[in-house]
Order: sequence, then structure tokens, then C-alpha cells
Amino acid sequence: MRNLKNILVTGGAGFIGCNFIHLLLEGEPEFTGRIINLDALTYAGNSASLTDLAGQFGTQYCFEHGDICDRGFVDALFKKYGIDTVVHFAAESHVDRSIYGPETFIKTNVMGTFTLLEAARNAWKEGDGVLFHHISTDEVYGSLGETGAFSETTPYDPRSPYSASKASSDHLVMAYHHTYGLPITLSNCSNNYGPYQFPEKLIPLMILNIVEGKPLPVYGDGKNIRDWVYVEDHNRAVWTILHTGVTGEKYNIGGENEWENIRLLHTLIDLVSQKAGLDPEKVRGTITFVKDRPGHDRRYAIDCSRIKRELGWTRKVGFEEGLAKTVDWYLANTSWVDGIRSGEYQRWVEKTYGERCRY
Ligand code: NAD
Ligand code: TYD
Repeated sequence: MRNLKNILVTGGAGFIGCNFIHLLLEGEPEFTGRIINLDALTYAGNSASLTDLAGQFGTQYCFEHGDICDRGFVDALFKKYGIDTVVHFAAESHVDRSIYGPETFIKTNVMGTFTLLEAARNAWKEGDGVLFHHISTDEVYGSLGETGAFSETTPYDPRSPYSASKASSDHLVMAYHHTYGLPITLSNCSNNYGPYQFPEKLIPLMILNIVEGKPLPVYGDGKNIRDWVYVEDHNRAVWTILHTGVTGEKYNIGGENEWENIRLLHTLIDLVSQKAGLDPEKVRGTITFVKDRPGHDRRYAIDCSRIKRELGWTRKVGFEEGLAKTVDWYLANTSWVDGIRSGEYQRWVEKTYGERCRY
């Protein structure tokens, strides 16, 4: 069992990272270490997701505003806080944006990961009691046909600039382990959902559009399949790997919960309509089939038997419960939603919506 003291969380103002920080500080009473959250606060980063943590948890939580590509800044953080653990969430994370503008994906996901690895290699010359955990996606494995699931030995076959940049970062992380002996672990997770997710991703986008009576854009025939896992289950898996994962190894994480997009949308329409007092049949009328995303992966499914068998992790939150919690959260947290959808996000939606429909 590793003893984690000074944890550098990158991207802790984003969706999964902020849930990870909340989980450690509020849901793991035995956690006595310190979290240093390094985040550039891009359009996807939001300090409102972490309000009051510094006040509530004192020196157990520190925020550092900066870019993971800034080597001098990252080096200084390793020194200032005596970092012994890195949990690397920071990334550009949205496939559609990677189609519109791949450059920041290469900068942050590839060069940013490289910069962190170099800083860790430089700071951790001894290599004892330290760990670099890299968060990645199942999308690095490509697209599945009707059967089968991605395992840890499935060859990489990324299809979008996003997944290609994540695949590159995974390879770099593994290379630093094999070449320099850097203690690393890596996890590849399926689609997350839950509170604080930026409303450009399918589930929060649809919840908010349903409530607001806006069109519900379904790409292609709506029959693409994703495996959905509640964000807290993903983060508990990461926490488990940090403690007992084998150095140099990778673990797949998934919800064993495959849904066709269109079927998921109908389920969401029923749920949101019931909670928000809407007529589901009227809402169904706003479903709009739009042109498909270029290179749209057809199906993802994760074989997560390794982490279950070797580290004893299992998902705790069923889909019905997780979706209900998520819908409740978005309906209750209107000021968070209004805040995140002002500014750059709104401009992006306006600029690209028409174009996305014309793919
Ligand atoms: P997100 O887009 O919600 O958050 C990303 C965070 O990283 C933001 O706070 C942003 O400000 C920060 N960031 C971006 N560029 C940065 C930079 N150059 N320097 C410092 N900070 C920077 O992403 P997410 O959905 O929380 O995803 C987190 C990680 O999990 C990513 O690595 C992603 O690839 C991976 N992942 C996501 C999913 C999913 O379903 N969302 C599934 C599997 C894996
Ligand atoms: P998304 O949440 O962007 O995650 P990813 O592409 O990383 O899996 O999309 C999930 C699925 O939903 C994917 O098949 C694309 C589809 N989708 C739509 O049909 N309409 C939308 O408006 C969005 C954002 C996604």
C-alpha cells in the first residue's frame, strides 16, 4: 500500500479532476495528504467546481494556476511542494473540438504530458515512494464491431486527433517507465458521466437542451455505442490504482454498461421530463438527426476484468441511480451551469453548431 503525501493533480478544475479532489477531501476521511491542483483554467476548467475547498481544508488543498507545458513552472511546483505523486488528468478532452482545432490537443496532451514526465524524471532521481499516474481513455483502442471488448492488450488504433494525442501520451508514459525506470501506472477508462461535466459532452448537453426546449442533435443514425461509467466509480478506481496498482502496468476501467446513443437519449428524455414536469412526447419531437461526426467510432466496450480481479475494484453506482443523480445535480446547480455556459463556450456552440449539422 503506497503512502501518498503530496499529490500533484493536473486538470483538477475539469470534470473528472474536480470530482477526484472532492472525493479525496470529502469522501476519504483517512486521506491525510495534500493536494496541489495545477490547472490552466481553459474553457473547460472552472474554479466554481472547487469553491471553498481551500477555506474548508486549509493547507490540505492548494490551487496553482498554470500550464502543464510550462517546464519552469512545473519544476518549481515539484520543488515547492515535494511532490511524490502525480495524477495527470489535464487534457483537451472533446473529440469534436479536436476535429475543429487539433493543435491544442497536440500541445497539451502530447507536449504537456512530455513536460510533466521530464519534470518528474528530473525531480525523482531516487525513484522510491513516488508514482506518476496517467489518466487515459478507451478511445486509444479505436472502434469495435458488434462484439468484443477492449482489454489491456488490445493494440492501439486511435481514429480522432483527440484519441491520437492521448495514445501518444500513453506511449510516452510507458516509454519513460521502460527507458528511465520512472514509476508509472496508467488507466484507460470509458465514457464518464456525473456532476460538473462540461455541457458539450452528450449527457449534460442533452439534459440542458431538454430542459430548455432546444434541439437534441443526434449524430448519424444514433446507433453508436458507448460504455458509461459514473465519475465517482472511475475516481475510486484511480484511487485504488494509486494505492495498490503495480508499477509499470495499465488498467482498463469501465461501467460494463453499453448504450446506443439514441436509446440513452430516450431514457434521458423520460427521466428529465418526469423531474422537470415536461411532456416527454413533445420533447421527443425536438430530436434532430444531424450529419455524422467525421471518423465517428462506432462502438466502445471495456473489459475491466483485470482491475476487478487483481485490485478488487468494482463499480458501485448503477446506471439508473447515476443518471438520476446527474439529472438532479444539473437541475439544482443552475448558477454553475449559467457560469460555465457564458463566454467562450457560448461562442463555440454558436460558431460551430450550424457547421456540425452540415458535416
Ligand atoms: P475536462 O475537459 O473536463 O477538463 C480538463 C481540465 O484540464 C480543465 O480543467 C482544463 O482547464 C485543464 N487543462 C487543459 N489544458 C491544460 C494545460 N495545458 N495545463 C493545465 N491544465 C490544463 O476533461 P475531463 O473530462 O475531466 O477529462 C480528464 C482526463 O480524463 C483527460 O485526460 C481525458 O482524456 C480523460 N478521460 C476522460 C473521459 C471522459 O469521459 N470525460 C473518459 C476517459 C478518460
Ligand atoms: P461525447 O460525449 O462527445 O463523447 P465521445 O465522443 O468521447 O464518446 O459523445 C458521446 C456519443 O454521443 C458519441 O457517439 C457522439 C454522440 N453525440 C451526439 O450524438 N450528439 C452530440 O451532440 C454529442 C456531443 C455527442
